[in-house]
Amino acid sequence: MNKSTPASLTLINVTEQPDADLTSFDCIGFASGIYFSSVAKQLLSFADVHLPENKDVFCIYTYGAPVSGFLKGIREIAEKKHCRELGAYHCLGFDTFGPFKLVGGIAKGHPTEEEIAGATKFYREL
Ligand SMILES: Cc1cc2nc3c(=O)[nH]c(=O)nc-3n(C[C@H](O)[C@H](O)[C@H](O)COP(=O)(O)O)c2cc1C
Repeated sequence: MNKSTPASLTLINVTEQPDADLTSFDCIGFASGIYFSSVAKQLLSFADVHLPENKDVFCIYTYGAPVSGFLKGIREIAEKKHCRELGAYHCLGFDTFGPFKLVGGIAKGHPTEEEIAGATKFYREL
């Protein structure tokens, strides 16, 4: 494990703890599905208010179809707060949004065991 990888992990659901205090954390990860080409808007609002300055950050996200630029909003917030991005991990996630429901969804079976293991590896190697 890299020296910057946190020794302990605290999970915070920002929809349940919208006022969570992140000041005591050395490294902060943002995890989300992609909705309308961005991480969840609740996560963006949370980060805009509660992400402290000068932290190490990383992102993990799932999406229905790979397109670049999904992290634009969260990266802008992190940059504004002089945070350092350590990396990002992403993979497909089962998507039944809108018309995809009619065909049983896309990216069925994702994330796979391998993709989940990939996320764990990514985290450990941060
Ligand atoms: C309302 C909605 C909007 C979505 N918009 C996108 C999108 O713009 N691009 C994309 O690739 N996937 C999109 N998806 C698919 C999700 O990113 C994907 O299913 C993800 O794995 C969902 O994560 P979750 O199960 O944690 O919500 C959308 C899904 C929903 C429900």
